[in-house]
Amino acid sequence: RHPFPVNSLGHLEIGGIDTVTLAEKYGTPLYVYDVSIIRKNARDFVQAFDQLGVKSKVAYASKAFSSIAMLQVAKQENLCLDVISEGELFTALKADYPTERIHLHGNNKSVSELTMAIENNIGCIVVDNFRDIELLDRLTAEHGKDVHVLMRVTPGVESHTHEYIMTGNEDSKFGFNLQNGQAKEAFERILQVDRIHLDGLHCHIGSQIFETDGFKVAIDMLFQEIKKWKEQYNYVPEVLNLGGGFGIRYTKEDEPLPHRVYVEGMVEAVQQQVESLEIPMPEIWIEPGRSIVGNAGITLYSIGSIKNIPGIRTYVSVDGGMTDNIRPALYQAKYEAIIANKATEPTIETVSIAGKCCESGDMLIWDLPVPSVEANDILAVFSTGAYGYSMASHYNRLPNAAVVFVEDGVDKLVVRRETYEDILKNDLSYL
Ligand code: LLP
Repeated sequence: RHPFPVNSLGHLEIGGIDTVTLAEKYGTPLYVYDVSIIRKNARDFVQAFDQLGVKSKVAYASKAFSSIAMLQVAKQENLCLDVISEGELFTALKADYPTERIHLHGNNKSVSELTMAIENNIGCIVVDNFRDIELLDRLTAEHGKDVHVLMRVTPGVESHTHEYIMTGNEDSKFGFNLQNGQAKEAFERILQVDRIHLDGLHCHIGSQIFETDGFKVAIDMLFQEIKKWKEQYNYVPEVLNLGGGFGIRYTKEDEPLPHRVYVEGMVEAVQQQVESLEIPMPEIWIEPGRSIVGNAGITLYSIGSIKNIPGIRTYVSVDGGMTDNIRPALYQAKYEAIIANKATEPTIETVSIAGKCCESGDMLIWDLPVPSVEANDILAVFSTGAYGYSMASHYNRLPNAAVVFVEDGVDKLVVRRETYEDILKNDLSYL
């Protein structure tokens, strides 16, 4: 069910380390990442392009999990980096990320974000709207610097897990619409600004996608536009960024494709288009977030109170919840988990895992089969590496959990647990 081994004590291991030992050493709740899985996920994407002989850039979408240590690993793996805010960019700069490998996104970039990007010579800015163009026109002139951009377009395709839908009306806050002429208008505006170099197009059709059809339809839509730009302006894109969204396995209901298959599907579709248009193959860029870190991370919790309502349900409460993983409450996301210190014991009952926040919706897992559970057991929830820590909150003034990286039998604290003083550090007295 999960990729992690169990040791002779019957305890779950990750990266060669006993999870029960990790919980004792660092406390709970605790995010633990097996760095070797992060590296493998990254390499699978990079190698897939290399094997096809296609020039590419794989950018890690740092919104999925951004921290200095994570960005150091992404840098070691030669990934580019997708940031969408000044905070994510600041983290990248603090991690000494090579700035030419950073790409800035966002549907509402501030002057200070764009200034920071320009001053630090970041590799690419994804232009999302007309205000971006006007601000870049002004700021590049003020700084005497050029910028390389991609133009984000909304192809009217949305991918929903196992199916894609043509939304037609392109109702999205992101990017320029293709069908109503806004993309062409933006294209023509960008061409007027000498300091803005339009390297190509960007689109992102959704998240947790399990097939390649949606990407293929989006590519088709992009090329309908490119054809017009080629005919009218002799413009040929050097880059096509097809976004992220490659699915991962949370539960047995999820059947993601191997990374290689997503890449092959996209490359094949682009190759067909460039052949019929008789233009050179562009570089293909992608921006995976979840599929780099999601299945590399688990969360360890300590079990506390257990409430049995005879004939109805048993609530097993843990010392974290929606503050460290908002996804079940926000998206009804499903997870698998085991009792880490009883990993070989047969399951004998079904319980529901509750968080400790003062909110009935703070449930992590409904109906989980478990062996006999008791207070102080350690619960390990799988596939929590993406959008857990990065969407954490301080609800009920719970401190953010610590993050530990393990690799080849070595564990290292990479984000320390917040203290109550940390939570209060910006509070000022009124009296
Ligand atoms: N590129 C763009 C432009 C994006 O908007 C996103 C995600 C990505 C790349 C990375 O997508 P990924 O490969 O991680 O699916 N909080 C939600 C996911 C929001 C995704 C937003 N954009 C969740 O927890 O499921």
